Formats: sequence, C-alpha cells, structure tokens
Amino acid sequence: MIRQTTTSASPAPATSVAQEALLPSVPLLALDRQHAALRDEIRAAIDRVVDSGRFVLGPDVNDLEAELARALDVPHVISCASGSDALLLALMALGVGAGDEVVVPSYTFFATASAVTRLGAVPIFADIDPQTYLVDPADVERKISRRCKAIVPVHLFGRTADMDALLPIAKRAGLPVVEDAAQSILSTWHGRCSGALGDVGCFSFYPTKNLGGIGDGGFLTTTRDDIAKSLKLLRVHGMEPRYYHQLIGINSRLDSIQAAVLRVKLPHLDAWSTARQVNATRYGELFAAADLADCVTVPGEEPRGRHVWNQYVVRIAAGQRDALRAHLAAHGVGSEIYYPVPLHVQQCFEHLGWRTGDLPHTEQAAAETLALPIFPELTAAEQRTVVARIAEFFHASRPAATIPAAETLRGPHFLRRAVGKADEVRS
Ligand SMILES: Cc1ncc(COP(=O)(O)O)c(C=O)c1O
Repeated sequence: MIRQTTTSASPAPATSVAQEALLPSVPLLALDRQHAALRDEIRAAIDRVVDSGRFVLGPDVNDLEAELARALDVPHVISCASGSDALLLALMALGVGAGDEVVVPSYTFFATASAVTRLGAVPIFADIDPQTYLVDPADVERKISRRCKAIVPVHLFGRTADMDALLPIAKRAGLPVVEDAAQSILSTWHGRCSGALGDVGCFSFYPTKNLGGIGDGGFLTTTRDDIAKSLKLLRVHGMEPRYYHQLIGINSRLDSIQAAVLRVKLPHLDAWSTARQVNATRYGELFAAADLADCVTVPGEEPRGRHVWNQYVVRIAAGQRDALRAHLAAHGVGSEIYYPVPLHVQQCFEHLGWRTGDLPHTEQAAAETLALPIFPELTAAEQRTVVARIAEFFHASRPAATIPAAETLRGPHFLRRAVGKADEVRS
C-alpha cells in the first residue's frame, strides 16, 4: 500500500542565497541516498528471490502488479521488461501495423516514437504548448488523418497532459489513447491517476524514474478487460497454454528481483512525490527571491491534478542555456537537457520528411530548456546553491561569451562528474 502523505507542500522559508557558503557540488540525481535508507530491506528482498529460484514473473511480480493496481486505482496492471516495451505492447494490443499513423509529440524520449516505427507504422509529430512542454491538443487534432490508429500523449516531466482537451478529440475521431506515463507515476488528472485516463498507460521502472528499479522494467495499465487479456498474451510470445501460441507476441517479462526491489520502494513513492513537490515550490521561491524572471522561466503548477516532478525544467532566455550549463558544471552542479534534438529532426527519422521549422515550439524548447536537480532527498542548502550559481552566472559582469560553450565540451554526458551515483541520467 502507498503511505498517503498529508504534509502540505510548502517548504521551509527560503533564506537568502547570498547569506551562506555555497556547496562544492550538487548532483542531478543521487540514488545512493534513497538506497542507503532501504539498503537492508532491498538486500533481504533480493536474497528471498535468489533463495526461491523463481526469477521471471512469479509471486513477487504478481504481488507488485496487485499493489500497483491498488495504488493507481486501475483494474489491470501488466508488468513487462521496460517502458519502451510497454509502448510497443500497447500499440500491438491496439492492432497498430504497417502503414498506420500514430500521433505523438516530438518533444519526448525516443521510445515514444520508435514503438510506432517498430510496427511499420508512421509517427506523426505534434507540437507542444510552450508553457507546459506538453503536447498541444489543437495540433494533435490537426495531425489526425484517416490512416491514424492511435494518439500517444506523453505526461512529460511528471505532469499530466491536457486530457480535458485530448480525450474529447480522440473520442470524436474514434481513436484510442495510449498514455506515455513513463515519467508520471502517481500524477493525477481531476483525482484520477495517469495511466487510467485513456485506453492504455505505459510506465517505466528505469532507475531515474520516480519509482525506479535496479535495472530495466516497465508496466502497463488499462481499464479495458480485452486489452488486459491481449497484453498478458503479447508479453509471453502469445503463448497460452505453454507452447501453444495464439498470436505473435514478444518476450517482455519483468524479473522477480526487480519486482521484489520495487515492492520495497513502492510504499515510499507517495512521500517521495510530495518531497519533489516541496522542492519545486522551494525553487519557485528561491528564483523569485533571486530576481531572475527575465532570464529563467520556472515551470508552472498544474491546478487540475498532481504534478510529480520527475524533472524540474527551466527555460533559459537569449541563447544562454549552454553557457549556463557549462558554468553549473564548472561548479559541480548537475543538470541535463531533455531533449536536445527533437524527434522529428533525428537522423533516423530523416526519411519521414520533417524539417527544422516544422514544430517551432518543440524546437525552441529543445534549444532553451534545462533540467535542474529535483530528487526527493535534495536538501534546501543544495537548492540554494543551484539557484545561487545560476544567479551568479546572470549577475556576473563579464560577458557570457567568455564562458566555454557546451559544444566545446565532449558529448552529451560531459557533465557526468556532477550527476552523482546514478548509473546514467536520462529520462
Ligand atoms: C517519456 C518516456 N517514454 C518512454 C520511456 C522508455 O522507458 P524505458 O527506458 O524503461 O524503456 C522513457 C524513459 O526512458 C520516457 O521518459
């Protein structure tokens, strides 16, 4: 069971950043802090699975599925090997195939669109709302053709897409909605959890997600009995009973070790999500106090549901984003760009014919946004250091051009030094 947190989301007062010494580093993510508190329980859970000899699916997987179904208040949870597979399985269950079209945002992780192409279907990219970075429902509607078979909104950074607008559009067009909820576990919309709003929800247990495993994993949610039945078959090669194949599926099962570890973590997810909200609120106060509104646009709150802040993404004005990031890296502050290259202009999708300029809000976001540390165990002192380093960059008298640009540094992970103990920081 999720432990419900009643704490209000208002942080302790943000003292002036100038009044204290800055910390030498702030990681983008520090999973070691989360694991330190749970270390004994996690090790005992792993030992239990090793002793049982049941490594794929099995009792822990069944129990995790039941616990997630309760936590998200959704009738069906079907686990699988990754969030990427969850998207693939969802589209397979809906019968998406060669020549079909699926409307997806371009401003998202690659898997949202690659699931479509792996089935021989064509992703049709929609632009985003520049305030929320979530897919723009009006553009989704414009992109629906007679060949369209599904719509995939992404609840990016932990915030639910505008389902008030998207669900009626899908209904009018007679299309199913697959929610890419990989970043949004426990986010809500008018009180209902993401993943229970459309036809199928797709989630990831990748370690950087709000509920992360110690390896890959994922799951699907649905309120539809027919889809749940298909998904359970599709994840095991369409096999039922053993060695009798009713349809052509894939091998995408969750390991028992992952399930056992996730069951240790799940009861803490609500409190962790609240801690992320507290950190987001504190950032809002710190940025307001630092008088940076001209240079840094902070993310807004969502009045229609719970935002679970998988990422805290700010927009940096006037072409300063990469120089700011280099400044932060030089002072040990981790940050990341989600996502530097929109999907419609990725090399592997060149054959689809999209060009720079086709999705202006997406392209601008890719050039201007920066994710800052937001993980639940982040301290107020660390947040003050992050904001102070940003203020220092913008208030410095020397021109920003003297700071090395990001492209002079090698590769997208040049800031690894500052990201802490997470094996990889991506979303
Ligand atoms: C929006 C989104 N969709 C899909 C995925 C794919 O999940 P996974 O890494 O578990 O395959 C991710 C995460 O990486 C994601 O952030």
